[in-house]
Amino acid sequence: MQHLLSIQQLNKEDTLAILEEAAAFERGPVPNLSDKILISFFAEPSTRTRLSFEAAMHRMGGRVVTAADASASSSLKKGETLKDTFRTLSQYGDLIVMRHDDPEWPKAAEKYSRIPIINGGSGSGEHPTQALLDLYTIKKETGRLDDLSVMLCGDLFYGRTVHSLVHLLKLFGAKLFLVPAAVKSASHGPTTQLVMPMQYLHNYEHVKQLTPAEARLRLHEMDVVYMTRIQNERVCGNIVSTEMLEFGQQEMDLLKPTGVLLHPLPRGKEIAEEVDEHPRAAYHERQIKNGVYIRMALMRRILEEQ
Ligand code: NCD
Repeated sequence: MQHLLSIQQLNKEDTLAILEEAAAFERGPVPNLSDKILISFFAEPSTRTRLSFEAAMHRMGGRVVTAADASASSSLKKGETLKDTFRTLSQYGDLIVMRHDDPEWPKAAEKYSRIPIINGGSGSGEHPTQALLDLYTIKKETGRLDDLSVMLCGDLFYGRTVHSLVHLLKLFGAKLFLVPAAVKSASHGPTTQLVMPMQYLHNYEHVKQLTPAEARLRLHEMDVVYMTRIQNERVCGNIVSTEMLEFGQQEMDLLKPTGVLLHPLPRGKEIAEEVDEHPRAAYHERQIKNGVYIRMALMRRILEEQ
């Protein structure tokens, strides 16, 4: 694998190999990448993705150069093209992780980057490394990857994490339950359902869409409930009202006793703070920490397969 630009590049075997390597690094020791430089180029806001990539590289002894806030602080602001940006970054390090709001940027990266590049978020398109860490978390929390029932809730239209996660869930044959949020925005009169675009559900056999009320009645069957926020910055017009499944103590009580609650964060109102400390809520500490091991495994694989 040279780049990781789309989750579609991964089959079941590659995915399991990455998860196994992440587990090995979690147990320790970790490899030594002290001769490597990661270029971290983020043209959209990020807390967890950027910092976990950088922490992962530091933990392997490598070095990091960063353009955080690159839409304002890099020459993109002066109108520099992605082509010229990739050509430039390629001269400074061994590997790039990038985030940008144009869902098509990975195509330019593939064409123009001279060094490997990892997609750290492409607009409302994909977020492959988040999907890998989500799957790793699911495996650790539930003890398996087969025969899972997974509910994805919230903004399934603009939310890139669920777009990538669906591909991995399909590889492992999970039963999928979709609970899209609905928004009403001032400029777009009627209510819009933020449903999963069909392109991501291609060939997915077991998919069912539920309303929030129907979803509550199925919580007792779920091994995983994955909540997402409404991507306010991508929805057209000012949102005046939203309708979505909100997860609080009541919903936690309805969840299958072995079920786990995940969220890529940041959260909006979809998860109440009252469930943060619940043993089945994995989003605050375990899911976040898993991102470091997954990103170590990915960077090791990509750099050593050069
Ligand atoms: C997500 C992202 O940036 O897509 N966050 C993350 O990377 N952990 C989710 C989001 O912004 O809603």
